[in-house]
Formats: sequence, C-alpha cells, structure tokens
Amino acid sequence: MIKLGIVGTGGMANAHATAFKNIKDVEIVAVCDVIEERVLNFAKEYNIDKTFTSFDEMLDKCELDAISNVTPDSFHKEIALKSLNKNKHIFSEKPLAENYPDAEEMYKASANTNCINMVNLSYRNSSGWQNLSKVLHNNELGKVRHVDASYYQSWLTCKYWGDWKEEQKWLWRLSEKHGSKGVLGDLGVHIFDFASYPVGNIKKINCRLKTFKDKGEKIDEYVLDANDSFISMVEFDNGAIGTINSTRFATGNVNRLELKIYCDKGAVAMKFDDPITQGNYYSICTDINATSPNDEKSLDWEIVKTDPTPSNYERFITSIISGKNDQPDFKRGADIQKILDSCFLSSEKNEWIDLS
Ligand SMILES: NC(=O)c1ccc[n+]([C@@H]2O[C@H](COP(=O)([O-])OP(=O)(O)OC[C@H]3O[C@@H](n4cnc5c(N)ncnc54)[C@H](O)[C@@H]3O)[C@@H](O)[C@H]2O)c1
Repeated sequence: MIKLGIVGTGGMANAHATAFKNIKDVEIVAVCDVIEERVLNFAKEYNIDKTFTSFDEMLDKCELDAISNVTPDSFHKEIALKSLNKNKHIFSEKPLAENYPDAEEMYKASANTNCINMVNLSYRNSSGWQNLSKVLHNNELGKVRHVDASYYQSWLTCKYWGDWKEEQKWLWRLSEKHGSKGVLGDLGVHIFDFASYPVGNIKKINCRLKTFKDKGEKIDEYVLDANDSFISMVEFDNGAIGTINSTRFATGNVNRLELKIYCDKGAVAMKFDDPITQGNYYSICTDINATSPNDEKSLDWEIVKTDPTPSNYERFITSIISGKNDQPDFKRGADIQKILDSCFLSSEKNEWIDLS
C-alpha cells in the first residue's frame, strides 16, 4: 500500500483526495494545511487520521511514500524540493513553479533521485486527446503544417462560476502581488501542453498579453494587474506554425478547450467543455481527394469515440508501482514553464523569442 500525504487542503485538494481514495493501492495517511480549521474539516470529510499545520512536521513525523502538493503556486518549489530531499515521490499541482529557473532546479533535483515526479496537467485526462496525439506520433497524417489551439473561460463576463468582484478565490487570480501570472499562468500552462505534446516542441514564440484596465484597477487590497487575455504565434521544431490563445472574457464558453491540427495528409480536431468526460472523442478528416462540392462524401469528418484513459492520479501511482516515470513529469513541467517565461519576454519586448 502506498502511503500518501496531501499538503494544501483548499479547493483543488478535493479532487486529489477523491481521486486517490478511489485507487486501491493508495492510503491517504496524513494531510497538512497552514490553516488549522481547514485541515481538520478536510481530514474529517475524507476520514484521514493524521493532521498537521506544518509540512516539515508532517515529513518528520509520518511514514510516507509520496506527497500530493496542492498548495498555491508559490509553494510548489519549496515543498517539492523538501519531498525529494526525503526521497518521497511527488505529485505537484501546476504550474510546476513560478518561473523557469525554479522549475529547472526542481526537475534537476528530481533527476538526482529515483523518485517518481509528475505535474498535474489535467487535460491529459482527455482520452480523445491522448488518442489524437497517438495519430500524430504514429505519423498517420503526414507532416504537420498548421495548428490552432484555444482555451476559453468566461468568468469575467458571466456569473456561471460566481461573481469575481466579490470572491477572493477569483480576485487573487487577477493580481500579480497575490501570486497570479494571469490567464497565461492559469490556462496557458494547460493549453501549451495540450497544443504542443501532439505536435512537438515549440521553437519560437511571439506573444501579446493584455490586461484590460477598464474592468477596474483595484478591489480592496487586490491590484488588478494580471493579464486577462493572450494571443500567441508559434513555430514548431518540425516547421509547422500555429496560434495558441486564451481569455477569461469568452462569453458563451465555460471552460472550453479547442484544438485543430492540419497536416499534409489529413487533419484532427477536438473541442470540449467541462466535464473532462466530454473529451472522450476526437474528429479526423483524411479526405484529401475531394474534387467538388457535389462529392457526396466530400470533406467528411469522422468522430472517433475513445475509452476513458487512466487519470494523472492513477498514472502517478502506476509509475510508483512499476518504477517507470510516466508523463507529464517535472521535465515536461519545466519545458512548459520556459514557454510561459518566453511569452512574458516576447510581450514586453514586442519580439519573437527563440526557445531552443
Ligand atoms: N490542475 C488543475 O486543473 C488545477 C485546478 C485548480 C487549481 N490548480 C492548482 O492547485 C493549486 C491549489 O489551488 P486551489 O484552488 O486549491 O487553492 P486554494 O487557495 O483553494 O488552496 C490552497 C491551500 O493551501 C494552503 N497552504 C498555503 N500554503 C501552505 C503551506 N506552506 N503548507 C500547507 N498548506 C498551505 C492554504 O491555506 C489553502 O488551504 C494551485 O497551484 C492551482 O494552480 C490546478
């Protein structure tokens, strides 16, 4: 039985506890949060024996094999390094760190151990996307030419998830001082992984970040300076080009990812909103011989339904059991972080940034 400790018992920790509770080889033996009331309630809800308000104490006093890190972004590095130092397998929330040098340090620290390391890039749980990626990796559609990817939320224009002007859980996401890297840090981390894993490494990027100041510049102590929207142009190692975009102003969408990949022998595409099970399909078109609009089967897109894929949580545990680190590992998390840092630099300098 793998003995797991969860650190951070806020919103996202519920997803971790629920997922790990459903895996038969795991026992959640301890939880930790700096807010005592929160950790006690969480332990009660999920029937977990030991509670701590200090991560150091949890590491010292508990026999643990693995740590699930669900603290805010600014604590990811410290907790991962301490865990690796004590030879604990580590499952970290995204983004891996707050910048590439930190993420690189984490990935290098993991490489010096036999510990399994994984970053929770959640949209890897879409089985349609996993299968779409295999089509590309098996080179079934020839050369990739053009990619179009977007991740759209609407909580700045619509109250579907609550009122951002009133709830702290939204306000911190708009404020750099409160640790936010804006929509780029929040959604960019997912969409760059989503767009580039099937296609290959991004070689160059040109990005524009935009903070819409007229939505208000400050609420209480929250200065609303984090980016709300970004657009980017990319060029991949294999020569393909593409656009990757995200915004929180996308009225009519709740949490929508869309990906289209056009190759010289066909194309694949998918789009889905919550829940992730909506992503258990992809579309494919290989009709490159259509001659006229009158062709009956001209330009048909076939919808391929796919069986659910093991989640990141399940693959983390399978990796511990097999000793073989599945993706997305800390190296991948660091590579994505490098893209994010390059977006900030590109937007600031108004120029293309070379990632190689
Ligand atoms: N993978 C995804 O799709 C996804 C979705 C939502 C959030 N997240 C990530 O999950 C992480 C947590 O987000 P959240 O929405 O649960 O935040 P949250 O603010 O609701 O919860 C974080 C918790 O960590 C606690 N904490 C802070 N510092 C700590 C420390 N040093 N030791 C122990 N506990 C500490 C806080 O008291 C709080 O209870 C973030 O990194 C976020 O980016 C990922």
